[in-house]
Amino acid sequence: MRSRPRRLDRTGAAMTEFSWKRSDFPEGFVFAAATSAYQIEGHAFGGAGRTHWDRFAEIPGKVARGENGAVACDHYHRWPEDLDLIRDAGLDAYRFSTSWARIMPDGVTVNPDGLDFYDRLVDGMLERGLRPMATLYHWELPEALSLRGGWTVREIPERLADLATVVARRLGDRLYSTAPINEPWCVAWLSHYHGDHAPGTTDLGAAARAMHYVGLAHGLCLSALRAEGVANLGAVCNMEYALPADDSADSETAAQLYDGIYNRWFPGAFLQGVYPDDILAGLEPHLPEGWARDMEVISQPVDWFGINYYTCRRLRQDGPVWPHVIDVPGPPPLTDMGWEIAPEGLGRLLRRTARDFTGDTPLFVTENGMASPHYDDRPDQPRIDYLDAHLRQARDAIADGVPLRGYTFWSLLDNFEWALGYDKRFGLVHVDFETQTRTPKASYRALARALAD
Ligand code: FCB
Repeated sequence: MRSRPRRLDRTGAAMTEFSWKRSDFPEGFVFAAATSAYQIEGHAFGGAGRTHWDRFAEIPGKVARGENGAVACDHYHRWPEDLDLIRDAGLDAYRFSTSWARIMPDGVTVNPDGLDFYDRLVDGMLERGLRPMATLYHWELPEALSLRGGWTVREIPERLADLATVVARRLGDRLYSTAPINEPWCVAWLSHYHGDHAPGTTDLGAAARAMHYVGLAHGLCLSALRAEGVANLGAVCNMEYALPADDSADSETAAQLYDGIYNRWFPGAFLQGVYPDDILAGLEPHLPEGWARDMEVISQPVDWFGINYYTCRRLRQDGPVWPHVIDVPGPPPLTDMGWEIAPEGLGRLLRRTARDFTGDTPLFVTENGMASPHYDDRPDQPRIDYLDAHLRQARDAIADGVPLRGYTFWSLLDNFEWALGYDKRFGLVHVDFETQTRTPKASYRALARALAD
């Protein structure tokens, strides 16, 4: 890596810098920051309806300290300041999400105030020269729909497509890009098999149905958006680099299964219209009747494909019930989430996804970042190092011919980190949740310098 002159801060200490600058990336490469609606907006404001996360947070032991998104970062009122922060970092785009329950409190009926909020927000981005990258669904299912079966029933994909039409008619002419669903694996598997996220189900059959219906929702939404003339449509999938925990054949099999459920199921369905055989063997008995007829809808063309990447996982076989996979802790240093830091996994997954699934379709890193409790200048070094190592992987992948067109930092702000509540801090900007004061961290300042060069 190129060494850069050290700059000094007010105390005379060396300021931390990224090892790259904007001009090291191809012309037009998009640098973005991401958030999501329920994690920052303050769901108590603006007439939003209850979601399955509000319900989940009320169940003792499900969410740390019983925290929820009622106030979060009060972005609902403070969005102009937050958009200023994105602009002042020199970023090009803002990846945000619309809250289904804000726009349709019961999942069906439109709340005009909810749509007006996103209308103001999108105009605010354009006024600041920021490209709006929208995600329709980042996990806050309206409670009314959750009580009707949520992602385990076919009605939900159809209702989400209605939301897509409503959003398209109001915002579609001003969006830079749109993806229907953030991280289908989390919506389906993490929430219905592991039960770590709302609704907290732990049932293989429910998980299998959700693995299908979330994909169907993706396809139906793409059709609805295209019918309204919305351009530049994509998908956002999370991926974890799967490694065998040891050199046994069983652990290798476990890693392949984990890779299939996590990293190949949705790309296979979205890009090729097929589920991977090794995973279908386990899930097919639980899929809804006639599932194969949906594959054509699920595999609507995408204009781009996004990967959210944070960590790797070390797997071995476990238990009598398919998929017999368990992960073992990785070596330190770990992030504040307990996640192993494995930047090489990003490079490998970018190359593999392009080679096996997406071809020439533009790729984006749609989330990457780390939870770290520190925010003073030098203690934020771990976040700078983490981001630096991952951006280096992104550059290497581009040099190898991967059509990577952009990179997105998770997250702009410290926020509600789902089941782990507010003390997992992913922000480039610190949030004091008592006063709602925003304070840029050393990583934010280093980013602003790198993007200005
Ligand atoms: C991703 C989610 C995002 C945030 C980060 C840390 O899986 O998309 O909302 O929770 O992880």
